[in-house]
Amino acid sequence: MYSQRIVVTGGAGYIGSHFCKYAKSKGHQIFTIDNLSTGYKEFVKWGDFFLLDVRESNKLYDLISKIKPNYLVHFAASAYVQESFINPLDYISNNIGGMESVTRICTELSIPIIFSSSCSVYGEVKSLPVNEDSELIPLSPYGETKLLCEKILKWCEKSSNLKYVSLRYFNAAGADFDKEIGENHNPETHLIPLVIKSINKGIKLKIFGNNYNTKDGTAVRDYIHVNDLARAHLNAIEYLNSNGKSDFFNLGSGSGTSIMNIINTLESITGLKIKKEFCPKRIGDPSKLFADIKKAKNILNWEPKYSKIETILQSAWDWHKISINNY
Ligand SMILES: NC(=O)c1ccc[n+]([C@@H]2O[C@H](COP(=O)([O-])OP(=O)(O)OC[C@H]3O[C@@H](n4cnc5c(N)ncnc54)[C@H](O)[C@@H]3O)[C@@H](O)[C@H]2O)c1
Repeated sequence: MYSQRIVVTGGAGYIGSHFCKYAKSKGHQIFTIDNLSTGYKEFVKWGDFFLLDVRESNKLYDLISKIKPNYLVHFAASAYVQESFINPLDYISNNIGGMESVTRICTELSIPIIFSSSCSVYGEVKSLPVNEDSELIPLSPYGETKLLCEKILKWCEKSSNLKYVSLRYFNAAGADFDKEIGENHNPETHLIPLVIKSINKGIKLKIFGNNYNTKDGTAVRDYIHVNDLARAHLNAIEYLNSNGKSDFFNLGSGSGTSIMNIINTLESITGLKIKKEFCPKRIGDPSKLFADIKKAKNILNWEPKYSKIETILQSAWDWHKISINNY
């Protein structure tokens, strides 16, 4: 594939910045648009940066018209499941409002979209591994916004010539192997950085639920290395570039790991003991969720390379060790 001009909304965030680094290394031109609400200016090292809220649709239209991208990758969103129960309207405003603005412009300018969807569109599933045809019954306002975004894409494709690929990430995890960027949310809600922070600060890690129907009673999730996710976005662009049809794909490792397994593995990587306490289950947390990734393997020609749990945790630990004072 020739060098493409790619607009990346949310490119200053965790997954977006890893995509920018990867796409730039493959010779593409990158234009990050981000309002820095949860992202970091220091993470924008690969390509140009424009400070803008994607909901400012007139300004966004002018900017994208000038950039003339071949593709737009839409990472920008509010992404904390638990926060979405407290502020559902903020999630609707940012995630649906952002999607509307981006989709309107991409439809008008005929720019295909790669969309960051989530496994939270599935909810409590009836059978595992979960494939793309499973029922979509989100358990959180966040998941509901992601499902609605997917529907927006579907309807706009029917009414115009919009092309898209929606990528349903499972749990993004790990960090850049060169340690230039990594995962740091504020407040942190994601398990692996939380465990690492609890090691660094000597505080007790809260584990929500130890009576799930799983081997060790803790919740089981599918962790996918952020670099594997980054690569999948270029595969999706290549797929659309060779006339692939709009579609939805799971991106996960294809297997589940329990919270206790993460803790035990990190204890053996670091040689340190993790203090923990068990708390009641939270609403919106299914007991087990892991992906069937056959569709992405077969159609996007993608498979995870770095998503063994030891590799994920080692890369996360290495990045946190050197960036502990920065974030
Ligand atoms: N992290 C995960 O495990 C995970 C799993 C499934 C889906 N996702 C989705 O992937 C995407 C990226 O997630 P992340 O973990 O990198 O989150 P992040 O918070 O690190 O990145 C989001 C980025 O979008 C920017 N942003 C938010 N709203 C914006 C707006 N209105 N205008 C412009 N910029 C805006 C933020 O400043 C940030 O840089 C999100 O859409 C999220 O819902 C993430």
